[in-house]
Amino acid sequence: MASSPLSVQAVLFDAYGTLFDVYSVALAAEQLFPGRGEALAALWRDKQIEYTRLVSMADPGGSRYRPFWELTRDGLRHACARLGLALTPEHEQRLMNQYRHLSAFPENRETLHALRQRGLPTGILSNGDPAMLEVAVKSAGLSEVLDHVISVEPVRCFKPDPRVYALGLEVLRRRQPTLVPRQVLFVSSNGWDAVGATWFGYTTFWLNRSGAPPEELGTAPHHEGRHLRELLALIDASATRAARP
Ligand code: LAC
Repeated sequence: MASSPLSVQAVLFDAYGTLFDVYSVALAAEQLFPGRGEALAALWRDKQIEYTRLVSMADPGGSRYRPFWELTRDGLRHACARLGLALTPEHEQRLMNQYRHLSAFPENRETLHALRQRGLPTGILSNGDPAMLEVAVKSAGLSEVLDHVISVEPVRCFKPDPRVYALGLEVLRRRQPTLVPRQVLFVSSNGWDAVGATWFGYTTFWLNRSGAPPEELGTAPHHEGRHLRELLALIDASATRAARP
């Protein structure tokens, strides 16, 4: 845990798993493939993220970049094949539709609203492509509580490439020109994403909902909590400390 007061001026969130609840995907997978839903959801997520890293690494110039939506679908196809599950076009459509219209965790709206009430701009910084993020934000009812929805698309690479985190800063600076990375609080439920953002220089909060062990990468996120409300408590506590004479 960082001991110095936070000087946060904006808060950026990862999308999938952090603001959008991907659990409904596992439920749908379980309905289609009884007894295998959890395994499918876990392998699907792993392949989706693996593919983002592969296309980013294969060419830093971005020629291998494909939208997150396509990589998500390809990850699903591979995961099913690997687990020996017959994925019909109808199954695929149903699971992908589920992914498109994810619900938000119940505390999200109030937390984002409370951040804005404290004068802190809020945004998403996600691997998702713009179309997919737009539908997700609308479905989850978060449009009015987000100032920015930032997709990796312009930089044609995925997290944890530092160009993604730099893009977040660049977009925020259009309204807050003097902002420096440590004044951005980056929130992710993915330990590796929180570490990547820490490497970039953001102040980070790992929203460790499941109580997962930390990544063994030699760097830890600055803050950790199991619930989004802890983020508000952290910001309020540091504002109080900073205000003390
Ligand atoms: C995202 C994935 C990594 O939204 O959850 O960027």
